[in-house]
Amino acid sequence: MSIDERPISHPLPFVRGWLRDPVGVGLPIPSSGATARRLARAAFEAAIPGAGPVLEVGAGTGAVTQALIECRRPGDRIIAVERDVELCRALERRFPGLEVLQGDAIEIGAVLRKAGLSSVCVVVSGLPMRAIPSDAASRYYSRAFEAMPPGGAIIQYTYGLRPPVDPKVTKPALEATFVGREWRNLPPMGIWRYRLAR
Ligand SMILES: C[S@@+](CC[C@H](N)C(=O)[O-])C[C@H]1O[C@@H](n2cnc3c(N)ncnc32)[C@H](O)[C@@H]1O
Repeated sequence: MSIDERPISHPLPFVRGWLRDPVGVGLPIPSSGATARRLARAAFEAAIPGAGPVLEVGAGTGAVTQALIECRRPGDRIIAVERDVELCRALERRFPGLEVLQGDAIEIGAVLRKAGLSSVCVVVSGLPMRAIPSDAASRYYSRAFEAMPPGGAIIQYTYGLRPPVDPKVTKPALEATFVGREWRNLPPMGIWRYRLAR
């Protein structure tokens, strides 16, 4: 079995999280191992060296977290943000020692300040952006870019065909680059990389 075929989902806590908040969690199925590893590769490719930890937002039960842990180099730090308290506990049980921040990522600036974090090197975002009103989405992205040095990137995944946050509508304006679609996911997953527009 190749590394991309290994299952890394944690279905039961995820389904319970979905039952608590179907809109916030999206679908009752976590990302596949293939998607998670592709996201991790995209994140480390975009990460700004020395700018701080990798920030994973909407970590769920840790499908993508595990891939980030597997792909990281010595010294890379990973921080997971999750709104659902029970999913936070599931993450802490699954990854002892992982830094998990419980909070609403729309207010990501406040979540990071509370944790004493001034800078991150990349953001991997699993929030269901299509379910988030555009002003809140714009605020979340804007605050996430404020937490990164120039050249920072948000790696966002989505089931939809278009960029889940319209880069022309956000303030500041953004550039969205299609990284690819992972077909070994139910449903297939699109991966986008956002940067501040030049
Ligand atoms: C589509 S799931 C992704 C879960 C996991 N990363 C994966 O790929 O399987 C979205 C996750 O984001 C969390 N979430 C939704 N809205 C959030 C918010 N405003 N702040 C923090 N987490 C949020 C949900 O609780 C859920 O765990």
